[in-house]
Amino acid sequence: MENFLIKGGTPLRGEVAISGAKNAVLPIMAATLLTAEPCVIRRVPQLSDVRFMGEILASLGAKVKLDGSTLTVRAAGVKGLGDYNLIRKMRGSVCILGPLLARSGHAVVSLPGGCVIGARPIDLHLKGLEALGAKVRIDGGYIHARARKLKGADLFLGGRCGPTVLGTANVMMAAALADGVTVIESAACEPEVVDLAHFLNNMGARITGAGSPTLIITGVKSLHGAEHEVIPDRIEAATFAVAAAATRGEVVLRGARADHMHAVLDKLRQAGVTVERSGPDLKISRRGRLKPVDITTLPYAGFPTDVQAQMMVLMTLTPGISIITERIFESRFMHVSELARLGADIAIEGPSAIVKGGKPLSGAPVMASDLRASAALIIAGLAARGKTEISRIYHIDRGYEKIDDKLRRLGARMERVQADTSKEPRSGFRQKAAIGP
Ligand code: EPU
Repeated sequence: MENFLIKGGTPLRGEVAISGAKNAVLPIMAATLLTAEPCVIRRVPQLSDVRFMGEILASLGAKVKLDGSTLTVRAAGVKGLGDYNLIRKMRGSVCILGPLLARSGHAVVSLPGGCVIGARPIDLHLKGLEALGAKVRIDGGYIHARARKLKGADLFLGGRCGPTVLGTANVMMAAALADGVTVIESAACEPEVVDLAHFLNNMGARITGAGSPTLIITGVKSLHGAEHEVIPDRIEAATFAVAAAATRGEVVLRGARADHMHAVLDKLRQAGVTVERSGPDLKISRRGRLKPVDITTLPYAGFPTDVQAQMMVLMTLTPGISIITERIFESRFMHVSELARLGADIAIEGPSAIVKGGKPLSGAPVMASDLRASAALIIAGLAARGKTEISRIYHIDRGYEKIDDKLRRLGARMERVQADTSKEPRSGFRQKAAIGP
């Protein structure tokens, strides 16, 4: 196993190219199961989650080829049974359920467990597929779904915490090949859902309303192969933006989609960070003092839960009190105890973290618990005085393409070193940490 060793205190300066979005490419890869023809996907980030998804598609019978950032998938024939050992590695793989069901009339997919950031049920995915006429049962840790022919329906997909991103993706993909019209109310509006709808429409689907809470899908008899370029990763861009601000740096985010990042950019500006747009690029710089801001995570276009941990680091550096409230995933505060090891003063009160910021952070050994918590620890290490060693960095490789290379090019002093596991900090989340986003 490898660790990151970071020597903090250097402002990040320069330009960084934003990669394709992990959370867009995963459902798009699943959508390639809907056709026997080849699909070509461009701007695919090199991530372990993309590799896992490629292995899952291959295990279902698809031919998968990754050439640089171009992925070609041809699912001439598909098996309905997803491999338990592959699927359990990655929660996002649940979005093969809808396409498998639509394509082959049945799907047996292992039930994704909870993960370190929360319980993560899939009741809404199943509710949506049942509304389209699927018979669903859970048996032996697997979801068994069957439907000779899916039928369009009107359905409501809102849950306790609002819409569901992958649930919307699953039902939209199944409905694309159903008989008749499906109307999904309270659909997720995330840009990744819109990107999937564009890809499906390129394949011959008839979907309107993507990006709004009402999705209308008119089923078609078959879909064909298509080419598509994945949207830039708004969460990666936000992570670099926060890192630039936290280190008093100046970084240009090449190809970032500012129109997907309004909530994050607004909070950064409120916090005293300078955000300048120039064409497709964004320049982030910080010269003056930071100001505390309160943040509540919400479904899109609200502040994304996937940037909550990173923003918390910035608030630990900000004199005053900031309140960060997590409304999407109930246990997404695993980074708090690790940030405390660097000297951060954060108290958890129900769904809120109360951050008393302004004291400088100092380097320490810490352990990553999930993808975005890892990103937060890297930012904290870059801003802290002295050395920070982060263990369990396999989490970061799931969702950030070559993050250490990109940061080094911006001047960060960080390297991958072989882990000395006898020195790993102890923590209570060992068991659950293996399941990814
Ligand atoms: N929920 C239900 N029932 C369901 C599905 C979801 O109650 O059937 C609840 C969840 O427990 C949560 C809320 O609804 O409280 C939202 O969950 P959602 O289904 O939208 O999450 P997801 O689709 O499983 C995706 C991303 C996550 C991101 C969330 C929210 C992928 C692969 N994952 O998860 O990304 O945090 O949407 O935006 O797209 C990450 O990249 O680090 C990550 C965790």
